[in-house]
Amino acid sequence: MRRLSIRNLHVSLVAGTIAAIMAMQTAPVVAQQVTMDAVTIERSMILTQPGVFGVVTMFKLKPEWDKVPSYERMGSAAEVANLIEKHKDAVLVDFYLTRGLKTNSDFFVRIHAYDLAKAQTFMREFRSTTIGKNAVVSDTLVGVTKPLNYITKEKSPNLNASINAASYIGDAPRFAIVIPVKKSAAWWTLSFEQRLKEMEAHTVPTLAYLTNIKRKLYHSTGLDDVDFITYFETNDLLAFNKLLTSLATIPENNYHVRWGNPTTLGSILSPEDVIKALTE
Ligand code: HEM
Repeated sequence: MRRLSIRNLHVSLVAGTIAAIMAMQTAPVVAQQVTMDAVTIERSMILTQPGVFGVVTMFKLKPEWDKVPSYERMGSAAEVANLIEKHKDAVLVDFYLTRGLKTNSDFFVRIHAYDLAKAQTFMREFRSTTIGKNAVVSDTLVGVTKPLNYITKEKSPNLNASINAASYIGDAPRFAIVIPVKKSAAWWTLSFEQRLKEMEAHTVPTLAYLTNIKRKLYHSTGLDDVDFITYFETNDLLAFNKLLTSLATIPENNYHVRWGNPTTLGSILSPEDVIKALTE
């Protein structure tokens, strides 16, 4: 065991006193930090609350990944599981496999966090894992969830009631689709009443799909180059194709500067199963 000399003891006492004084001066900030850190992430809560940040990152594996010994590639699943465990009180992490369905990505990750900096920290550390180091980012989308703007109880009571009356039924969805959307200046300069009318026209044909398609909307204006990230989960890709076809025919579509490009379709799998599939 290392023996503490009188000089070292003196230095450590002085350092301890300075640290104690600094801690006192920063006490309120530290207390605030502890409160924020104490927020635990509960899937059902964070996925339904407004004011939650969503970060969707698409990855393409580098050819070097295939040269990493297979035990190391397999080990990456445990490495990522440990990272998710380490950050479980700060972020909710979901993985999706796109290899075989998309050209520009092999998998994507969707993170939810109350504090965007926590999502950034997770992604930064993910980039240092074996799989993260062997992948390039092909796209990143950042958005935040908000309460309804248009189809509210006050502004559109009937449609609001219809939206609330139906919910997803059936088996857990196997597929997820991410479609970034940007609207034109002509849209944003419409009056609120005109936009409300268009959003009611948007909602009417979508109602029939509430039972077999789950949806989630993130607002990105000012946080990214798109205005919205739309995210869907379904088992019925034919119904999804029909839904998009009907939304393509309504006037709102005249205001789309970007609708997809890329549209990302992936399988909903555990992080471990995504990494396993990319190791085979
Ligand atoms: C089950 C299917 C769908 C339902 C029930 C649905 C319903 C709605 C509702 C009620 C709103 C208004 C939100 C508000 O009041 O703020 C909305 C907004 C929006 N939806 Fe859908 N939608 C569906 C599918 C889609 C699809 C397939 C797309 C396109 C990829 C899409 C893109 C959007 C966008 C971008 C907004 C925000 C528009 C804006 O605020 O300007 N939706 N949707």
